[in-house]
Amino acid sequence: MNPSNPNGPVVAIVVAAGSGSRLGTDIPKALREVRGVPLVLSSVRRLAEGGVDVALVVVPAGQEAAFEGVLDAAPIPCGLVAGGDERQHSVANGLGLIEWHGGLEDAEVVLVHDAARAFVPPEVVRRVIDAVRAGADAVVPVIAVVDTIRELTDEGSTVVDRTALRAVQTPQGFKRDVLALAHERLAENQTSVTDDAAAVEYLGLDVVLVEGAREAFKVTEPFDLAIAEALAAAQDRP
Ligand code: CTP
Ligand code: MG
Repeated sequence: MNPSNPNGPVVAIVVAAGSGSRLGTDIPKALREVRGVPLVLSSVRRLAEGGVDVALVVVPAGQEAAFEGVLDAAPIPCGLVAGGDERQHSVANGLGLIEWHGGLEDAEVVLVHDAARAFVPPEVVRRVIDAVRAGADAVVPVIAVVDTIRELTDEGSTVVDRTALRAVQTPQGFKRDVLALAHERLAENQTSVTDDAAAVEYLGLDVVLVEGAREAFKVTEPFDLAIAEALAAAQDRP
């Protein structure tokens, strides 16, 4: 065991198997380039800077070769596996890869990250890892909601108290066995959840919140690519 890394290597499952329908591109969203760098590579670079040792990238079936080529430039070892129809199936496939990927037997800390959140600051990654190491079962980065929010009702709409709301980002961090058990339960009960922290709550465990960052936004619509270009230019880094 490496004494500087008592929980074994930190693994990130990077889900990149979506179709990117809202972005409306003919290539997988995670391969879209911003300032010449594919989103998935930007994500892996920032995860590595924040303390991730190995990335398991979940890709659209049939796109393995294209992703392998891009990830040759990654600063950490990357494994690849094909994704599923829903995001949670893609995460489950990534979890399966941990089992047979060499050298990950001791991995106790697992992150799940959307490849589309390609500009996540490494400090956010570090905060998530530190909170899992400090004993949390599940950790999510969140940010305050800046807009006033209205909830639609049968009668019209009402304002929601936004001071009590938080928007959830990734990477989310977990004790490996907790995340694995949560996904087993989801599969057994054919339950669907929108993120992995909700899967852990489904087991009755608590989720710890840490501060996220606006830079960790998810590239979703064409407008977001314009923001991404500006952000990458301002940061003057790939
Ligand atoms: N994702 C995945 N497998 C799926 C669906 C989504 O791995 N079956 C990944 C996406 O690649 C993305 C992340 O989950 O990195 C968040 O999903 P989202 O932003 O919704 O991406 P897409 O599903 O690709 O986009 P859209 O919903 O517009 O089609
Ligand atoms: Mg989607």
